[in-house]
Formats: sequence, structure tokens, C-alpha cells
Amino acid sequence: MTARTAFGGRHRRPPSAAQGDDPVTLGTTAAHAPASAAVLDYAEAMSTLASGVVLVTCRLDGRPWGVTITAFSSVSTDPPTVLVSLGTEGIAARAIAATGRFGVSVLAAQQRPLARLGSAPGAAKFLEPFVEAACDTGASPVVAGSLAHLDCDLVEAVAVADHTVFFGRVRTARAARAGTPLLYHRREYRTLGGPARAHPPIARSLGCLSN
Ligand SMILES: Cc1cc2nc3c(=O)[nH]c(=O)nc-3n(C[C@H](O)[C@H](O)[C@H](O)COP(=O)(O)O)c2cc1C
Repeated sequence: MTARTAFGGRHRRPPSAAQGDDPVTLGTTAAHAPASAAVLDYAEAMSTLASGVVLVTCRLDGRPWGVTITAFSSVSTDPPTVLVSLGTEGIAARAIAATGRFGVSVLAAQQRPLARLGSAPGAAKFLEPFVEAACDTGASPVVAGSLAHLDCDLVEAVAVADHTVFFGRVRTARAARAGTPLLYHRREYRTLGGPARAHPPIARSLGCLSN
């Protein structure tokens, strides 16, 4: 049921997949292609979900590197397992596949500038000024001042659309005793209890949900 992806991670095939076919396009022939929402509708709907913001960290030629994401989730508590979804063509995805290790630093409200750095398309995202001095240079870089950090071993990588979902077994987890999280909602960074700008009522367009 699994195959190696182009960058070395494992790729789980859909249950109906025939061996030897391209796993990404399997099941998406014209006859069976799943319907897709319009991209803008999808993006608008997803923007209503308030998310915490994390920096996925890894090592690129031994140097700390990080990318800003919101697609991070706990998968299992025992054993502790998380997932992150990264653009497959991105540098971080390739580095994680190559090293088999990644970290997740949960950003604090005051780390908005770092979040912006980590989301600048194509920019160098080396993190030397922002990370704690490493005791273990094999471990994932830890963002200084983050609310929590999870150091993970890659256990599975699944390519879906133009992203790869990396599953990580959490080696070590630590959390700050206090701090306010950085949030992202309707394409803006926010904080807990922060001012929410008025938005036009959407009840009309979501009439079927308001019954
Ligand atoms: C708030 C926020 C959340 C993001 N979440 C994700 C995500 O979950 N996965 C992803 O691949 N990119 C996400 N991005 C986009 C990446 O940060 C951005 O594409 C980045 O430039 C990728 O790094 P690269 O250019 O070095 O490949 C997010 C951006 C922002 C601002």
C-alpha cells in the first residue's frame, strides 16, 4: 500500500490503486473525477476558520530553516503523532524528506514578524537569529520565545494534490508556562480577544446553513 515519493518520503496509495500507476492521479480519471469547489469559494470558506500559527522547522545543509503554516494538527496522543501539510515543491518539504526530522514551534502573538518571514514566497528562511542554540544538531531547530515546540521523526509522507502531508512521531514536547498565541483569521494575524473588524453579513449567501 505504500511507495516512495519522488523526494524519498513514503506515499500511501488509495485502497483501489493499482500497483505501477501514478498514485496522485489514480481515481481521478474523467469518469471518476471528484467535483471541486471553485478555488476562491474554497479559500473564502477556509479563511473563516481561526487557526493557531506555527513555524515548521528543519535543517537545510545543517542550518535552521522554517516555514509558516496553519495546516498542523494532532493525530494521536499515544503514541504522540502530529501532521503538517506543506507544498510539495517547497524547500522545507524537500529538507524534511531528506533528513527525516522536523519540528513544530507554536508562535506567540508577538512573533508576527517571524511568521511573515516564514511565509514570504521564495525568500531565504534561515532562522539563525530566531532559534535557541542547539545542543543536538540533529534535532529540529527550536524558535526562541515560542509557546511550545515539538521535535518529530518523520514516519509517513502522503502526497495529496500539490501538498505533502508529513506525519511525525513526537520525540520531545515542551510548552511555555504562559503566553498568548498568534492566530490567523480571514487573512489577518490576530490575537486572542483582539479587535475583530466588521465583515459584511454572510447569512444571505449561507442561507442553507442558517435554517
Ligand atoms: C498564515 C499562513 C498560513 C500558511 N499555511 C500554510 C500551510 O499550512 N501549508 C503550506 O504549505 N503553506 C502555508 N502557507 C504558505 C507558506 O508559508 C508560503 O507559501 C511560504 O512561502 C512557503 O515557503 P517557500 O516559499 O520557501 O516554499 C501559509 C502562509 C500563511 C501566511
